[in-house]
Formats: sequence, C-alpha cells, structure tokens
Amino acid sequence: MGPLPRLIGHRGAARHAPENTLSGIHMAAAQGARWVEVDVKLTADLVPVLMHDDTLDRTTDGTGPAKDLTLDALRQLDAGSWFSPAFRGEKVPTLVEVIQLVLALNLGLNLEIKPCPGREEETAGVALTLAYSLWPDDRPPPLVSSFADASLDMARQVVPRWPLGYLIDRRPANWRQRVEQLNVSTINVNARREDAASIREYKSTGRPVLAYTVNTVPMAREVLSWGVSSVFTDTPSGLMEIAG
Ligand code: G3P
Ligand code: MG
Repeated sequence: MGPLPRLIGHRGAARHAPENTLSGIHMAAAQGARWVEVDVKLTADLVPVLMHDDTLDRTTDGTGPAKDLTLDALRQLDAGSWFSPAFRGEKVPTLVEVIQLVLALNLGLNLEIKPCPGREEETAGVALTLAYSLWPDDRPPPLVSSFADASLDMARQVVPRWPLGYLIDRRPANWRQRVEQLNVSTINVNARREDAASIREYKSTGRPVLAYTVNTVPMAREVLSWGVSSVFTDTPSGLMEIAG
C-alpha cells in the first residue's frame, strides 16, 4: 500500500458531484484529494459497477433492485440528474472505467466491495479478478475494504498481496480475531461511533485507523487528535486545511 493520505474523497466527492460517478472522481481530484473511495457491486450480468445502495432509486432515475439490471439496462439510466441538472446524462460507471480514470489522474484508490445481499463472495471474486488484471505492477495497489465478512475472505484469496481494510460500523465481538486472520492493513471505522479510547484499541493491533465520514474541520481535527490517520470526506475542498 502506498502512503495513506490525510483525506480520502468519499464516493468521489459526494457533496459536490453525484456519488460513485466519473464526474465525482474528477471533482475529488480537482479539489486536491489524492485518494478516492468508491463502492463496487455487480450487475445482473456480473459486470462490476459503482453503486452504493442495493436499489436504483436514490442515485439514478430507475427503480428497484440494482442486481436485477444488466449492464446495458443500467447504462440507460441517468445517475446525475437526481443530484443536479448540471450532471444530467451521467452514467453509472463500470469498474473498468473507474480504474482507467484513477490511473490517469494518478489517484490512490479504496475499492469498497458493496455486494447486494447474497452476492458477497461473487462480487469480491469478479470485481477483484478484474481489478487485478488491470492494475499496473508499478503502482501501489488499491486498498480493498468491505463490511461483508465473506467478501473480505474472498478478497484475501483473489488478491493475496493487496492490502485489505477491515470496515466496521458497530464493531463485532470478534474484530481482533478477524483483523489478524485476514491480515488486514487498515481498520476503517465510523467516526460517529468511536472515541479516543476505542481508536487506541484498534491502533494497539499495529494498524492505521481510517474514519468515515468526516465533513467538517472541527470533526476532522477531533478524530485526527484520537490518532486516526485518514478521514473519508464528501468534501475534500472543505477539509483542505487539514490535508497536511
Ligand atoms: O468505506 C468508507 C465508507 O464508504 C463506508 O460507508 O456506507 O459510505 O459505504 P458507506
Ligand atoms: Mg463506501
């Protein structure tokens, strides 16, 4: 893994451009982010694309489960107008497009595997096989994270040498065991559920801690004071003064 930046653009730059789109990644880079985080799931015909929710309703002009649409059908949808008319015509990007753009912009990447329910292993397997085939040897590999245990297990098999991030909301009782078993490189936590003491516990495993989602300078300063290394933010420009 390359050196961690202080700021990671969350879903691109989700406050300034539609999340998980190519415009969002361009926006994050334009605002000075050096890394972006995106959410990856599979279409009905097993193509990895970027989308956060299990359903299309919030971030496209479609409705219903994302997993039921083929790539062709998904590409008919508008993934920008819901955010602002300025982004009308934005498409749901494929992982291939995203990797090409991230490489061209010289950004670091956190690939969050975000499977639709029941597709945990398949999503990690397909997305990471593809990502591995596209990623140049001379660039630091992406950080791969997931809330889904089965996706992380699969990731460890498919990309044994890539860094994993153990992503948690409410921490499970067996978190220490999983962190060791998966040999993760980072622990990625919900800033709102943590404090200085809990961050110390995570760091006692010898791993850097990343915190989502931090959108104000005071909150960023607080979590950094707890020993967090990096924050995921919807607004890289809004946090630039703590970018370091
Ligand atoms: O990976 C950090 C963060 O993106 C996790 O939460 O729901 O925004 O994907 P979510
Ligand atoms: Mg995410």
